Amino acid sequence: MNGEAMYPYISGMLQRSGGKVRLGGTVKEQQRFHSQETSIYSWDYGIDTPQMRKLYERAKSSQWNAADLPWDTDVDLEAEIFEMDPAWAQADWFRRLSKKEKQRLTIQYNTNLICNFVHGEQGALVAASQLVSALPDMDSKLYAASQTFDEARHVEAFSRYADEKLGDFYPCTQNLFNLMQAITVESRWDFKLLGMQLIVEGLAISAFMTLLSRCREPLFQQLMRLVLRDEARHVAFGVLSLRDFYGEMNEKERRERQEFVYEACVLMRGRLVSAEAYERMGLDPQVVRETFRQSDEVREFRQLLFSQIVPNMNKIGLLGGWLEERFAEMDVLHFRDYDADAVLDSLIHGTHAASPSAH
Ligand SMILES: [Fe+2]
Ligand SMILES: [Fe+2]
Repeated sequence: MNGEAMYPYISGMLQRSGGKVRLGGTVKEQQRFHSQETSIYSWDYGIDTPQMRKLYERAKSSQWNAADLPWDTDVDLEAEIFEMDPAWAQADWFRRLSKKEKQRLTIQYNTNLICNFVHGEQGALVAASQLVSALPDMDSKLYAASQTFDEARHVEAFSRYADEKLGDFYPCTQNLFNLMQAITVESRWDFKLLGMQLIVEGLAISAFMTLLSRCREPLFQQLMRLVLRDEARHVAFGVLSLRDFYGEMNEKERRERQEFVYEACVLMRGRLVSAEAYERMGLDPQVVRETFRQSDEVREFRQLLFSQIVPNMNKIGLLGGWLEERFAEMDVLHFRDYDADAVLDSLIHGTHAASPSAH
């Protein structure tokens, strides 16, 4: 099956800018394309949405400087700074590896994951800056400006960690880039919020939570807690902006958003990491993929990725009808009323111990 048949809605979004959905692999070259957002000037400088201004105030008072993190912390890649992935444990290919090789695989795997966080953060940086221009009201523009700076810090902090502490770098996965490109070229601002703040960032929070719960390295733990606190606010920005907007939408317009959400979820469920980490270890990615396909932990983790997205789709009123059926097929509908905030809170404050698998 080709990308167009699998992702017809997102393919249509990309085609308008001469792009297309590509399946599998990574993106290594610089990417240039025209985006189509509409810029809006608003002359109304008063406070129209007190909740949005409150969020903006919180954003300003929560600023932190990535350069102030304790970068002199010694990160020993020979020590177990990340727990090994529980999904590997029973596989023959994994048991045949030496202790040192298992350790190296864990580092490579997590480096690949963290590098794709960096690429996702760049996507968020671009999307947030576009929203400053495209959003219609001043309260939202101000908030989007604060998010733009948050994302700049995230890019800086994650890429510095990968470079200085992990000493390696991985390219962006094609799946993630397909979605980031669709969000970037799209002219309608609500699609940018839906795709970035609610899907990419909702999913990132779930992935960050898993990684944090499996990390034993203090510098990275500190970095992740700061990033998670910002990300929770970004998702709240998406919910707040879209809640009322979608309430007034007709069925055809609503269905278009639902199709986009569904395709974006399928794209992102596929892969956060590429096969490259395994290839660098001399392992056959097909064999590893088969381990994942059979693993209960992986199934559980893939579902858990949706623990932010599904309740938020419910909050903005997109969940009924067609999308509800698709989420039921994906076996994630039970997250509809899931309260992910409490788990997130305890992770930010360092009191959580859960340890699901990350893929
Ligand atoms: Fe971010
Ligand atoms: Fe963010």
